[in-house]
Amino acid sequence: MDRIARDFRSDTVTQPSTAMKAAMIEAPLGDDVFGEDPTANKLQAEIARLTGFEDALLVPTGSMGNLTALMNHAQPGSILYSGRTSHIKLYELSSYSRIAGLNLFEIDDSGGRLDLEQLRRSWSPEVYYMPVPGLIAVENTHNMLGGLIYPEPDLAELSAFARERGVPVHMDGARLWHAARAQNKPLTHWTRHVNSVMLCFSKGLGTPVGSILAGSREFIAKARVTRKLLGGGMRQCGILAAAALYALEHHFPALDETHRLCRQVAQALSELDWLTVTPPQTNILIARLQQPKAAELVAAVAEKHDYRFLAIAEDAVRICFHQHNDDAACDGLVAAIEAWGQT
Ligand SMILES: Cc1ncc(COP(=O)(O)O)c(C=O)c1O
Repeated sequence: MDRIARDFRSDTVTQPSTAMKAAMIEAPLGDDVFGEDPTANKLQAEIARLTGFEDALLVPTGSMGNLTALMNHAQPGSILYSGRTSHIKLYELSSYSRIAGLNLFEIDDSGGRLDLEQLRRSWSPEVYYMPVPGLIAVENTHNMLGGLIYPEPDLAELSAFARERGVPVHMDGARLWHAARAQNKPLTHWTRHVNSVMLCFSKGLGTPVGSILAGSREFIAKARVTRKLLGGGMRQCGILAAAALYALEHHFPALDETHRLCRQVAQALSELDWLTVTPPQTNILIARLQQPKAAELVAAVAEKHDYRFLAIAEDAVRICFHQHNDDAACDGLVAAIEAWGQT
């Protein structure tokens, strides 16, 4: 069996298919720093259409897309309200403070959505010697909470709260694709409530490189400057855009199968009495052990059976599904985990 099929560490481990590579090779290209790459322009127009925004901008990574949005929306010294377990807070090297100069106020995000009551209580008042609220960031789907989908009514409420206070909302939508397929809704179901969104092609959609930022025309014009400032002005980036266009057509609908596999493994693992499985909503499964032995479980399954996934706490593991996984790999993974429980 293909080694990648047995790799459940992340949906970033995927490899481009031959057909995707062919699309990349055939793509018409130009210098995007002059705005002349036809394939990048086509992708940007398509994402603007899908998200309901005026414009979009291809960026090398999700982290750069998020940082670009933070720098565009908020002044240095102002407050970024973001989830306690958000990717922006935990895994982007504190670029929100080191580069954007923002001051992080953590908001409880259990359940995959920001606690609006806490946000209300911790909102910085308008006093001249207090830091100014700059931006609210949300994550959809929520990575570390197991691919949870931001409930749309909660997002609408948050958006109204932010609008009343004149503060923008940015969505880290690295895996917004998954929410859309899982709930059979267009991306605009969520994006209409935010001022900008970042989406990744290099995760569930399986391209080798590439993310995108969408927002108003003015926001994207500013983002183009910020991207260049951060060293992300790319030249013939249509080669990456072609992979993304291919993925939109072929891999986006295929997320349904990835979600099915995730549910199937969750169901099988929930029958083990030493594991507590959070019912997955998309492609990420979190399971808790009764004892703090997650690292032992992960190491043993990798060594004996060559299946890989991650320990995310002493007593918790994350199993992430992608397009290379199949029924055989999922059955093998469950059997390997079950076998460890019997040792
Ligand atoms: C929710 C979320 N946002 C942003 C990122 C950052 O993306 P990148 O690794 O392309 O910088 C990730 C990466 O896994 C992610 O899961």
